[in-house]
Amino acid sequence: MGKMKHSPVNVAVIGIGNMGRHHARVYSELEDANLVAVSDLNSQVGEQIASRYGVGFYHDYRKMIERDDIDAVSIAVPTSLHTGVALACIETRKSILIEKPIADSLEDACTIVEEAGKKGVIVAVGHIERFNPAVLRLKEVIEQGRLNSVTLVIARRVGMFPPQVKDANVIIDLAVHDIDVCNFLLGKRPGKVYARAGKALNSKRADFASIFLDYDGTDVLVQANWITPVKIRELNVTGTRGYAELNYITQKLKVYESNYERGFDFFGDFVVKFGAPDVQEIDVMREEPLKVELGHFISCVRQNTTPLVSGKEGIEALEIALAAVRSYKSNQIVELCIDPDKKV
Ligand SMILES: NC(=O)c1ccc[n+]([C@@H]2O[C@H](COP(=O)([O-])OP(=O)(O)OC[C@H]3O[C@@H](n4cnc5c(N)ncnc54)[C@H](O)[C@@H]3O)[C@@H](O)[C@H]2O)c1
Repeated sequence: MGKMKHSPVNVAVIGIGNMGRHHARVYSELEDANLVAVSDLNSQVGEQIASRYGVGFYHDYRKMIERDDIDAVSIAVPTSLHTGVALACIETRKSILIEKPIADSLEDACTIVEEAGKKGVIVAVGHIERFNPAVLRLKEVIEQGRLNSVTLVIARRVGMFPPQVKDANVIIDLAVHDIDVCNFLLGKRPGKVYARAGKALNSKRADFASIFLDYDGTDVLVQANWITPVKIRELNVTGTRGYAELNYITQKLKVYESNYERGFDFFGDFVVKFGAPDVQEIDVMREEPLKVELGHFISCVRQNTTPLVSGKEGIEALEIALAAVRSYKSNQIVELCIDPDKKV
């Protein structure tokens, strides 16, 4: 007997601006997904994209989600609108992929996850770097013990101001990516957060931040800004036996393994001698992270399984980012009580 052919998951996109238009493109390319409609308040852009993919266009997303044939929806409206749109989709029993950050307040984020639980729909959060093949290879390198104990992580996510961001600050918009990546790589959550941030070029919202996170044994520094005139997306991990350098954009990963000897010199004094480190460019199968992310979401919807980045992970990353905001505003260390097994 041949394999049963399953029908694709019908999917729609709400908000087809900078990010949402890529969701529409990727869904149109995925074999297991069937893009059926898009919605945007900007009818000109909306109609253009809808006609490109031969799908329906809706100015009012509420009309769109009344359709029974839509199984799942990507939500890529500005962050401050995530909650209203998400709750409406959940109400009509659509599984949702919400762009990061899940919401702009913890209360809203928890409400989204609770309501989704009641209706039995899936919530995924668009922490795209989790699907970056270089990040996944780095996780393997750490788990293989090639760096030994991870002591320090430095993430830099800097570049110029994206004019379309009119609601979020640089911490919940950019740093939240690296916070989530560190939660994933280290397999734990920070207990303390201290941040410095401010407004350099944007008078309304913080546009630069340095965030120190205490992961109990690993120190993390996340630098995020919208003022550096060149786009940099890097992650450096220092362990007691090695060092890894990851470039999120090029998906290149380099590992330096320490080559040091301990011994005693002529006078019997203890010495440590460093040789040149062994350097290895790790093979990374380059893929478009969004394609992997949306493909994973579709397969979760089909099989009714929990996404790798579910609402719970989205809430955790947001909770830490918001603690960093509180920290820079109060100039105090903020203690976090994050229980990784906490049920939301
Ligand atoms: N994962 C990533 O790397 C990444 C990158 C960029 C943006 N994002 C996230 O994606 C979201 C959108 O950001 P963006 O940069 O694409 O913003 P954007 O302003 O370019 O796009 C938002 C779109 O939503 C539309 N919109 C607003 N209200 C709507 C409504 N009620 N119904 C339908 N459409 C509506 C707007 O007209 C606009 O076209 C944000 O949450 C942002 O954090 C994620």
